[in-house]
Amino acid sequence: MPNYVDEILRRRTFAIISHPDAGKTTLTEKLLLYGGAIHVAGAVKSNKIKKTATSDWMEIEKQRGISVATSVMGFDYVRSDSSKCTPYHINILDTPGHQDFAEDTFRTLTAVDSVIIVIDSAKGVETQTRRLMEVCRMRKTPVMVFMNKMDREGKDPFDLMDEVEQELGIHVTPLSWANGQGIKFDHVTTIDSHEIAEDTRDLIGCYPEFSEEEYLAGDLAPVFFGSAYKTIGVQELLDFFVEHAPSPRPVEAVERKVDPMEEAFTGFCFKIHANMDPNHRSCIAFFKICSGRFERNVYYKHVGKNQQMRFSAPTCFMAQKKETVDEAFAGDIVGLPDTGNFKIGDTLTAGEMLHFKGLPSFSPEMFKYIENADPMKQKQLDKGIHQLMDEGVAQLFVSQLNGRKIIGTVGQLQFEVIQYRLEHEYNAKCRWENMQMYKACWIESDDAEELRTFKMRKAQYMATDKEGRDVFMADSAYILNMAQNDYKHIRFHFTSEF
Ligand code: G4P
Repeated sequence: MPNYVDEILRRRTFAIISHPDAGKTTLTEKLLLYGGAIHVAGAVKSNKIKKTATSDWMEIEKQRGISVATSVMGFDYVRSDSSKCTPYHINILDTPGHQDFAEDTFRTLTAVDSVIIVIDSAKGVETQTRRLMEVCRMRKTPVMVFMNKMDREGKDPFDLMDEVEQELGIHVTPLSWANGQGIKFDHVTTIDSHEIAEDTRDLIGCYPEFSEEEYLAGDLAPVFFGSAYKTIGVQELLDFFVEHAPSPRPVEAVERKVDPMEEAFTGFCFKIHANMDPNHRSCIAFFKICSGRFERNVYYKHVGKNQQMRFSAPTCFMAQKKETVDEAFAGDIVGLPDTGNFKIGDTLTAGEMLHFKGLPSFSPEMFKYIENADPMKQKQLDKGIHQLMDEGVAQLFVSQLNGRKIIGTVGQLQFEVIQYRLEHEYNAKCRWENMQMYKACWIESDDAEELRTFKMRKAQYMATDKEGRDVFMADSAYILNMAQNDYKHIRFHFTSEF
């Protein structure tokens, strides 16, 4: 067996998803501590946009400044009870907690092979977690659940599991149990432990046994109870995770399914960070390696541009550090220094024409005209808008009627971030102008004549997106309904991926 197969098999690439404040950061830190990747708690903490900080730009700067190091946290881990010495290689992908950046989180989910959902046991399942779980279900991502904060007075463990089953639509089975006084507890035990009271044990017996097959199919979520803060139940979770969570899984491309064990390298870009260092205009494009081995200084094909490229300084991420690497394997994330060649969704291969599927793009919810507030800086503004859109910060539409630029986002904070970044990274000033807008719909039809008529009749509502595709900008539900009723052969899509 070539050595890259072993390398791929020991990789576990996952994301922790949760509602803000459920304890994702605390849990991540404890996992890193177990892996010996950090030595003090608190090291990851600063990588958070505080919920209250919508106008605290220092926070966003700080977050951007260090998040390249913490976007991916890789470390090696040997199971605590194992005599095997080959360590697992764990890659944790960070997901922003703030809901206005949910789109970033959705994209990150396309680059992971499994997820751990953290739930605050006092609060139960919250809306945002539910939305993220929908993406997992769609992709059949294997899920484990960590019921956090069991050291506090919280909900009953059985009620929590019922809630997960109902709200997240997945079967559960408990694998560790909170033990102690009443609902609060001070340690966890295994499910077959004699410490668990008999009536509780009877109830636990009603849950299905853990089945790896069902877990891997995304149908059954093992549940662990614990406290990230008090480091209870974390090692149980981690040991079980490395043993049962999947190594890199096959990835669907338009042309075919790509198996991670294929020797030829393939990968796709799921995230771009522009202007990490404002003095050098440096961008980093994050690629998930889908198959084979990636090597430094070897030519690969940029499928979108049909161009050969090689990279002299690819980086991988070990805990808080990023370092130049000579090779990386399926499951890993490599950061490629970029000068504007990449956009989200781009594919790199050893030569094959492949287009990976499934990078979600979301229906924008809020729309504003973006105007230049400094006539001397038009070029800078155009460049900034262009690059930020490539980074996937928001979506750009150009009205066909008057050529005005419209930015569509999923939350208000994105407008503020764009304005701030245009000013600080591109030296350009923008102004926002409110507009009446209900939905942006990407339209297509097999009936070319009907499509032509539609575009002509609805000219005042038509725009193009960044790729030049036709978008119908309906300013009310009524206008959209009318259009859908009158033009039966036109398909209206609410996201750009269809
Ligand atoms: P997040 O990344 O999901 O947003 O959550 P984070 O880990 O930052 O945790 C949110 C708050 O919950 C933090 O308190 C953290 O200390 C606390 N916490 C996390 N896990 C547990 C747990 O198992 N038990 C208890 N009791 N608390 C927990 P904070 O007051 O916001 O911050 P800090 O002052 O503790 O740093």
